[in-house]
Amino acid sequence: MATNRTPIMAGNWKMFKTPADTTAFFDEFKPLVASATHCEIVICPPFIDIPAAVQAVEGARIEIGGQNLYWEKEGAFTGEISGPMLAAAGARWVIIGHSERRQYFGETDETVLKRTKAALEHGLKPIVCVGEHLDEREAGKTEQVLVAQFQGGLAGLTAEEFARVTIAYEPVWAIGTGRTATPEIASEAHKVIRAEVAKKFGGEAAAAVRILYGGSVKPANVKELMAQEEIDGTLVGGASLKADSFAAIVNFHR
Ligand code: 13P
Repeated sequence: MATNRTPIMAGNWKMFKTPADTTAFFDEFKPLVASATHCEIVICPPFIDIPAAVQAVEGARIEIGGQNLYWEKEGAFTGEISGPMLAAAGARWVIIGHSERRQYFGETDETVLKRTKAALEHGLKPIVCVGEHLDEREAGKTEQVLVAQFQGGLAGLTAEEFARVTIAYEPVWAIGTGRTATPEIASEAHKVIRAEVAKKFGGEAAAAVRILYGGSVKPANVKELMAQEEIDGTLVGGASLKADSFAAIVNFHR
């Protein structure tokens, strides 16, 4: 972990928890991370839990995010949620282009770019996900996939826009499988992404952008991941659902 990039420890709750579960989680979680000043803490619950989450973290150093947004402000888009709606509900962050969105809901690099621009326009901090599938890794195409996702999804931003983006590297084969990328594999991928950032937006932007790792992050492996210079935080699925395990991840430095 580079000292000049503040780590971000983010939880992606996916489609888990009700508003009541959310309140119960934060009752337990807040005291466990009350002294954590070494990182930013973000939780991205389902949309309907956002008001309960925002209320629960009032006064704490924890911010709330959405898991997706639509790029129009409002309109006849049944089932969608817009940037202004998320911001008005108190969300500060939003995950964009998660592999599950790409796989099950038809998201592409093009829609990732539209969503990212919309998030920025409405003052939300996007966490843009990239990552290769197992067959792509086995075919030696990891670098090619990451470059294409960067080119299609992020290279279309202006430098000012890009400065407000966080990237999450989530190898699809490591998500929910218990199969974590080794710190070395994750670092290598992060380097590929950072090199693309340098090519497109310059060395300063590359040194400043935070790249999170996601995929079976657990209390038992977070320390070795965070020991890597290239890894600026984690995006955690399953292990963010329990207050004690996510607190142990947030407190990786202890
Ligand atoms: P798991 O931590 O459950 O593998 O999920 C990772 C993820 O997809 C976070 O966005």
